[in-house]
Amino acid sequence: MKILAIESSCDETAAAVVEDGRIVHSNVISSQVEEHKIYGGVVPEIASRRHAENISAVVEKALKDAECIYDDIDAIGVTYAPGLIGALLVGVNFAKGLAFATGKPLIPVHHLRSHIAANYITDSSLEPPFLALVVSGGHSHIINVRSYTDFEIIGRTRDDAAGECLDKAARAMGIPYPGGANLDKIAKNGKVDAYKFPHPRVEGSPLDFSFSGLKTSVINIIHNAQQKGENIIVEDLGASYIHAVVKCLTDNLMEAARITGYKKIVVAGGVSANSVLRKNLNDLCTKKALKLYMPELSLCGDNAVMVGSQAYYEYKAGYIAKENLNAVASLGIDKNIEM
Ligand code: KG4
Ligand code: ZN
Repeated sequence: MKILAIESSCDETAAAVVEDGRIVHSNVISSQVEEHKIYGGVVPEIASRRHAENISAVVEKALKDAECIYDDIDAIGVTYAPGLIGALLVGVNFAKGLAFATGKPLIPVHHLRSHIAANYITDSSLEPPFLALVVSGGHSHIINVRSYTDFEIIGRTRDDAAGECLDKAARAMGIPYPGGANLDKIAKNGKVDAYKFPHPRVEGSPLDFSFSGLKTSVINIIHNAQQKGENIIVEDLGASYIHAVVKCLTDNLMEAARITGYKKIVVAGGVSANSVLRKNLNDLCTKKALKLYMPELSLCGDNAVMVGSQAYYEYKAGYIAKENLNAVASLGIDKNIEM
């Protein structure tokens, strides 16, 4: 079954053709990073406009690269939640129009479910159930993935997401957008113990995260240094900070593995590209005899290949959209579309 997939939840306009959830025939991403860089972050109104301008060409290219015409496509998958509402609406409306014009089924895909599905592409042997850490710009979850379409959130952030926390710190350090990725590069050779950070824990909820204290802490370090006229060694501050954030993620994930007994650990979302997170998890999982799955770097950020993969499993579970499908800005990964 070949699915034409569309993604427009944030600042990448993407389309792909994926077969049976696992075989990639094309993967097109049009990134808006350069434009948003000027403003230090994603400007929702600009994102929506660029999606509207680019989506036709991106979808056409995805078909062309896959050497497909619409007759070769069995269904259309689209990210409908969560994300920037104006951005999501462009993808959803375009996909609805295509489904209507071609008579193909339309499959609604949850963005975080698709991030997890990026791992089905990277490792074709991976199947649920497993334990997943999903870390993106807006979410930090530990999830019991019971099946391809059945998710239970067992740990979540009480305030900021890990990605947001890295982006805000990078901005305070004067590092250009996209902060998380740039900070990762800059901090590669920094000293991890140069600065001390707290290890926030959520009383009574050992799997939940709280990142806002870490963020405040790094901003205070920068402000204090500025007031005293002292220099900050960005490499060292970045390295210490990334290690503090990653330690929160890995500690809770390992505790979740202990509690649930899962031996298969999956990481997903934009922050899964982080070099420290990847290395530390690799070491920890090897030590604890856990099998670790991480998306290849090119599939960590937003793309439509992962949407095409998840769409296949949503279709098999019977989740087909009606003509009135709408975009949803905020929706839990454990919620299914109303049938
Ligand atoms: O999944 P994603 O591309 O978009 C959302 O769904 O939010 O995640 C974006 C997040 C941003 O916060 C970005 O800074 C972070 O992923 N990110 C990274 C790295 N690459 C992207 N964070 C740390 N290290 C990286 N190498
Ligand atoms: Zn994402």
